[in-house]
Amino acid sequence: MINQIPVKTLHDGVVIPSVGFGTYQLKGSQGAQAINHAITNGYRLLDTAYNYENEATVGEAVRRTTVPREELFITSKLPGRYHHYDDAVTTIQESLYRANLDYYDLYLIHWPNPIQDHYVEAWQALIDAKKWGYIRSIGVCNFMPEHLERLKEETGVLPTINQIECHPFFNQAEQRKWNEEHQIVTESWSPIARANEVIEHKELQKIATQHGKTVTQVILRWHYQLGAIAIPKSATPSRQRENIAIFDFELTPAEMEAINDLTKPHGRINDQNPAEYEEF
Ligand SMILES: NC(=O)c1ccc[n+]([C@@H]2O[C@H](COP(=O)([O-])OP(=O)(O)OC[C@H]3O[C@@H](n4cnc5c(N)ncnc54)[C@H](OP(=O)(O)O)[C@@H]3O)[C@@H](O)[C@H]2O)c1
Repeated sequence: MINQIPVKTLHDGVVIPSVGFGTYQLKGSQGAQAINHAITNGYRLLDTAYNYENEATVGEAVRRTTVPREELFITSKLPGRYHHYDDAVTTIQESLYRANLDYYDLYLIHWPNPIQDHYVEAWQALIDAKKWGYIRSIGVCNFMPEHLERLKEETGVLPTINQIECHPFFNQAEQRKWNEEHQIVTESWSPIARANEVIEHKELQKIATQHGKTVTQVILRWHYQLGAIAIPKSATPSRQRENIAIFDFELTPAEMEAINDLTKPHGRINDQNPAEYEEF
């Protein structure tokens, strides 16, 4: 049975699934097959990026499925080296050609790169690309309040989505609160922290046992109850199904609190602090 994934409405009226599928490292024929399995298993939101070098793989999976294009929700991202306005416009067009799509449902600035400091003109390019019909909704990744404030001040437009690193060891409570106060939906990248030692955590295992669920399902349910859109990646069809079988149980407030308490100040997976880290 295909899981029905609930949806959310963004501040521009666009409707988005509340759990998506990460595609980082899914490339070529095996990648297209894995993404195709994900669609068959019920995922509709596919998260790619220009820098993953797999927009064409996502496009191939879309070509292979019988699910109509308008039922899918496809995201890509603008890399740091193309923040200048003209480069950004060309890159969005190139992203579309690579995936053989007429439009993206969501397009994000991948990193703010505040030292380079061209993210406002990149944002203007996304605003215009939306007007031209290339993109239905526009957002950012890894933006902090000071970066978002500048978008608001200089363009008057705030993103619909801020995709940030978020998992039990680094739960970004303050950034999520800021996003929520500004009607920006948080999307969680590496939502299960790449299935590292978090999966072995005793507290999470205890909660999972109480619900007859796996630790991964407990973590993904926690994102859902926080109001964040998790985008777990898995090349494995059984795990893909496991990761969206989360709508038949509920974590108690005490369990939510216990998971919130696992966060650590230096809990980032690769120490990528967007105030300093830049990616091109
Ligand atoms: N905006 C950004 O800057 C940014 C940065 C990083 C990632 N992202 C996006 O976020 C997506 C997800 O993040 P991620 O890929 O870094 O990490 P993730 O989704 O937290 O973890 C993926 C890893 O977990 C394993 N896994 C998945 N489900 C599992 C399960 N039920 N049980 C055990 N292991 C499981 C996968 O293995 P198998 O594949 O072998 O099953 C894979 O090794 C990416 O794919 C990408 O789309 C965005």
